[in-house]
Amino acid sequence: VQKTTELYRGKAKTVYHTTDENLLVLHFRNDTSAFDGERIEQLDRKGMINNKFNFFIMQKLEQAGIPTQAEQLLSDDEVLVKKLTMIPVECVIRNYAAGSLVRRLGVSEGQQLTPPTFELFLKNDALHDPMVNESLAVSFGWATAEQLAEMKRLTYKANEVLSALFDAAGMLLVDFKLEFGLFKGQIVLGDEFSPDGCRLWDKATRKKLDKDRFRQGLGGVVEAYEEVAQRLGVNLG
Ligand code: C5P
Repeated sequence: VQKTTELYRGKAKTVYHTTDENLLVLHFRNDTSAFDGERIEQLDRKGMINNKFNFFIMQKLEQAGIPTQAEQLLSDDEVLVKKLTMIPVECVIRNYAAGSLVRRLGVSEGQQLTPPTFELFLKNDALHDPMVNESLAVSFGWATAEQLAEMKRLTYKANEVLSALFDAAGMLLVDFKLEFGLFKGQIVLGDEFSPDGCRLWDKATRKKLDKDRFRQGLGGVVEAYEEVAQRLGVNLG
């Protein structure tokens, strides 16, 4: 399978067509964006770390029975994936309060959420990814009720698998975002799972090991991503 023309350039990844109409190549760039693309910086090695980390996580999820788009690691910063028809809503699970939840409800950061909460956001940079609900998603035709139920089930399943994985490596999975798409009628996990799209804290010190380091100007962004990968045993080469 050969990479051909560019399909789409996102904030951190570029997507290419391939000679197989059912497959795409994702190129993980070093670009790191925050605040809906308002701030963008190049972080050396980030594309490579996220690509390898994402493939490692996707394999773990696949082994746990979650269908994913991941097919094959192609190079340091490229992966071969199934071509999905993406559903334009983001699925977020929160185990501890942080980020927009803290701003929206005025609760304290780090408060444990029992049970974990599930939220939906519309993918729309211009509108700053507004929070939506299942009723709106069905009424606007973004997904069917059955598809949303499956996305929610798979996101909770991923939370179980990944919370245990990070816990064993001394980290708290605070929250994360997943995106799904359709492949031959089936709901399949797409996009990526990396420290760009989740919050991870050291269990003992609660040190932030994710993109909040970039958003909050804490420094040591790539060092933190590398530490997360190393703690999980991801082979960075
Ligand atoms: O900003 P907020 O607290 O709602 O984010 C919840 C989780 O979803 C965080 O882990 C964040 O990194 C992720 N997220 C994302 N992409 C977005 C919005 C949130 O990866 N557009």
